[in-house]
Amino acid sequence: MARKKIIAGNWKMNKTPSEAKALVELLAPLVQNDDVDVVYCVPAIDIVPVVESVKGSNVAVGAENMYVEESGAYTGEIAPAMLVDAGVKYVIIGHSERREYFKEDDAFLNKKVLKAFEHGLTPILCCGETLEQRESGVTLDWIRLQIKSDMQGVTAEQAASMVIAYEPIWAIGTGKTATADQAEEVCKAIRECIAEIYDTDTAEKIRIQYGGSMNAGNCKELLAKPDIDGGLIGGASLKADFGEIVNYNK
Ligand code: PGA
Repeated sequence: MARKKIIAGNWKMNKTPSEAKALVELLAPLVQNDDVDVVYCVPAIDIVPVVESVKGSNVAVGAENMYVEESGAYTGEIAPAMLVDAGVKYVIIGHSERREYFKEDDAFLNKKVLKAFEHGLTPILCCGETLEQRESGVTLDWIRLQIKSDMQGVTAEQAASMVIAYEPIWAIGTGKTATADQAEEVCKAIRECIAEIYDTDTAEKIRIQYGGSMNAGNCKELLAKPDIDGGLIGGASLKADFGEIVNYNK
């Protein structure tokens, strides 16, 4: 069975609640495509209004982060149950900005992945190499290490249901996209890694996105690759272009 494409916006730290509602309204007529799962991953404070605004539509809502504890004295953090209760279905885990600026390491991200599954949230697990790593030829080893560390204890059934986003750090927000061949090479290696950890059936089911300056102009070529099952989109998810990406096959 062919994997359904999944196009997710990562709004990052953009849009106030009222701006968020306006963006959802702008995009509503543009993001209808039955061939694609559409997700808006939004700042925590936008979750409630965005869930309300997308009600009855084809769009699911994701969080950009969550904490690993159930509740308690963790000032400023958001518990998984809060996300679920608010209507969130997906959660981005291990975005390179969180790894870099907030020092989230693989052991911590592994806890987050397991915690997300405990609550029925679908993780969008991010991985990716720096420019330095790419130039020194360690990209595939590095990605495999991230995946194996972050997915420890995840069952085959869970793995089959989740999303991995390959986001080369040098391509994020830089306007510098990986070529479709570069992106495919790594996404294919991720699938092979999943087959190695689990089995080919799981590897065939898991969805692997590319992220890093994906836009209306380059999405077709990227999404035509056999191992690229969608995109995690930053900058271009904040404007009408996002609708063009969602409708890449039209
Ligand atoms: P970008 O961000 O599309 O702005 O490069 C992608 C991401 O960081 O998820």
